Amino acid sequence: MAEGAAEAPLENGGGCDSGTGALERGVAPIKPQYLTTKEQFHEFLEAKGQEKPCRETELDIRGKLYLAPLTTCGNLPFRRICKRFGADVTCGEMAVCTNLLQGQMSEWALLKRHQCEDVFGVQLEGAFPDTMTKCAELLNHTVEVDFVDINVGCPIDLVYKKGGGCALMNRLAKFQQIVRGMNQVLDVPLTVKIRTGVQERVNLAHRLLPELRDWGVALVTLHGRSREQRYTKLADWEYIEQCVKAASPMPLFGNGDILSFEDANRAMQTGVAGVMIARGALLKPWLFTEIKEQRHWDISSSERLDVLRDFTNYGLEHWGSDTQGVEKTRRFLLQWLSFLCRYVPVGLLERLPQRINERPPYYLGRDYLETLMASQKADDWIRISEMLLGPVPPNFTFLPKHKANAYK
Ligand SMILES: Cc1cc2nc3c(=O)[nH]c(=O)nc-3n(C[C@H](O)[C@H](O)[C@H](O)COP(=O)(O)O)c2cc1C
Repeated sequence: MAEGAAEAPLENGGGCDSGTGALERGVAPIKPQYLTTKEQFHEFLEAKGQEKPCRETELDIRGKLYLAPLTTCGNLPFRRICKRFGADVTCGEMAVCTNLLQGQMSEWALLKRHQCEDVFGVQLEGAFPDTMTKCAELLNHTVEVDFVDINVGCPIDLVYKKGGGCALMNRLAKFQQIVRGMNQVLDVPLTVKIRTGVQERVNLAHRLLPELRDWGVALVTLHGRSREQRYTKLADWEYIEQCVKAASPMPLFGNGDILSFEDANRAMQTGVAGVMIARGALLKPWLFTEIKEQRHWDISSSERLDVLRDFTNYGLEHWGSDTQGVEKTRRFLLQWLSFLCRYVPVGLLERLPQRINERPPYYLGRDYLETLMASQKADDWIRISEMLLGPVPPNFTFLPKHKANAYK
């Protein structure tokens, strides 16, 4: 944000209160000139008697389609694919604060942005105000992002038992210190992703949202399931609707089970500011186009193979085209294929649209490739990877990482 502000001419005020000129505020006028660096901008604010640089506190993404942060699968090459199909907002995979602070290169790699990602944020996970604030401070100087998100929806034991992820929903004092601390040091808006609660029948979000709003959070995304629930039941959109009111005027994005434009339309009727899409994008990244064009797209298997080919090209560009880069691209392609195989082509459906929680029966595709792409077997995913990246090395094995690609 400082970039845009830094280009403001001095005579226009430049800072948060651009309506109040230096003369009116009783400070010496500064000769009109353009501010070209962040430092000059800060000097200017200091001269105006403002201690803290003006920061962007609002994130205006109402009505936009938000591709969810997706550990392992939401890598930069995949996000490029989704951008091409119409995703508006993208976010890096969850990065662990302590790993970033320790300087782990693989963690820093998660914060990389592609130039096509015009509205891009990074997501952080942590449990303590000091480490999270320190991390936010570090990021503020090192990465070019439009927002920073805190993952307070992460259900995994490793994170939860340390007090991070979902556990923060029950640690209000620490949660508040984290939000206020990070907000203090960030020049970009801070957003938060939460769940309905921790236990299945104990909803917490509606009580938490007014607090988050008062602590200065710019936007919240609510995944309509509890930690306990994982993916076993449908997301509770009625509850999300209740929460819209509790969050107001802070924008609330809704998240859960969107796999068609009809799902997205229904979700928008709850009054949410926008929708976030996770597994829907993994099953069919062209879902963003379907929502924008309000149609079902009966995409052919060869078109789908073209999408995969583009992914592998982006992967080789990102991870390198040497042996290591090829195998890394293959591993990430295989992770994605473990979700993609759940897509049922529109032309084969007895009833439209496909639902995310319904296990498709075994079916034969309209051609060999369509049948192969529907296979739930890792060996068949490996065959698809071989069409694009050549033969796998000897003794190659693959296990999908995420339980979310199972039905129960
Ligand atoms: C493979 C995978 C990875 C995920 N990684 C993250 C993550 O890094 N951060 C996060 O907040 N949520 C993560 N989630 C949760 C999703 O963002 C989303 O909240 C959840 O899947 C519900 O949305 P859906 O019904 O559209 O899939 C992940 C989900 C999946 C399937």
